[in-house]
Amino acid sequence: MVLYLGIETSCDDTSVALMDDEVCLGYVTDTQDSSTFGGVVPEYASREHMNVLPDLIDSLLLKHNKTLFELGFIAATIGPGLLGSLMVGVTYAKSLAWSLNIPWIGVHHLEAHAMVSMWQNNFSFPFGILLVSGGHTCIIIAKELGKYEIIGSSLDDAVGEMFDKVGRKLGFDNPSGPFIEECAKNGNKVVKLPTPLYLDKSTNFSFSGLKTAAIRYWEQSDKTQQDKANLCASLQDVVTLSLCDRLQNAFGVSDLDNWCFVGGVASNLYIRNRISALCKSNGKSLFIPDPHLCRDNGVMIAYTGYKYYLLGQFSSYSDSANSALKF
Ligand code: KG4
Ligand code: ZN
Repeated sequence: MVLYLGIETSCDDTSVALMDDEVCLGYVTDTQDSSTFGGVVPEYASREHMNVLPDLIDSLLLKHNKTLFELGFIAATIGPGLLGSLMVGVTYAKSLAWSLNIPWIGVHHLEAHAMVSMWQNNFSFPFGILLVSGGHTCIIIAKELGKYEIIGSSLDDAVGEMFDKVGRKLGFDNPSGPFIEECAKNGNKVVKLPTPLYLDKSTNFSFSGLKTAAIRYWEQSDKTQQDKANLCASLQDVVTLSLCDRLQNAFGVSDLDNWCFVGGVASNLYIRNRISALCKSNGKSLFIPDPHLCRDNGVMIAYTGYKYYLLGQFSSYSDSANSALKF
């Protein structure tokens, strides 16, 4: 039995999980309020992580009647992400681990998004991943722990990034994805928007043209609540079409039976349902984490760290945060 912490600080969410082998005893997330700035400001995000991380860890341990001295290792996101934000989590994890004389394990953020799905659904390698978050939109073949092949990715904006930029114009707080999903419920899919990479047979994505078209529509509309809802419904639908279209292309180049849909955007119910239907009609098994585990969280970091811990693969103290960490 090993008790351990997972620390996630790659962007503006500070999240810590306390786990005992495969069991999550609890996790806490502090989401920064970036509405004043209309988006994430890297320097502010790093300072906020520094302010809240120590207390989050202390209160989580206290709540579960555990102490630092019972920990067997500490995992933290090592990249990719905002450099300053990553450095706070990595430095804290390394320092704590050094002072407690236990290993620390640097975790790849994207691998962790996929592994939390494995934690919840108990499938095994190899499997396919549709990862759709604020920073990434890609299709990946997961061969084994630490071995991934990206077979398609966005040529420009990621879906979450595009939702956040359009949402800002519509007056939503950041991150805008959940507001767009909510607003879309009152709208009709009547706004004509371009289908990204129409008829393209690749597994790549593109969302910047869609972003520009959505913003142009809004600026030229009467800006009524109905205009806003119709735009959200149409935008969400075109994004879903594009994701389904590319996943269908991926099924043509890979014969994997097991797929997972992960990342913050996978918490969107409308998109989840459509991806599920596509997988079903292709005879694929699809695994999607619970919505709260699609967004950045400490559990995904803790569990991925645990997988490496079981293999005895620890990080060294010379390993440092890498904002552009590759697979
Ligand atoms: O995975 P994540 O928490 O952070 C990154 O690794 O980027 O994803 C955050 C992104 C944001 O862009 C946010 O707008 C989007 O996920 N998002 C959503 C929803 N919830 C979060 N997009 C659409 N619908 C949602 N319900
Ligand atoms: Zn993420």
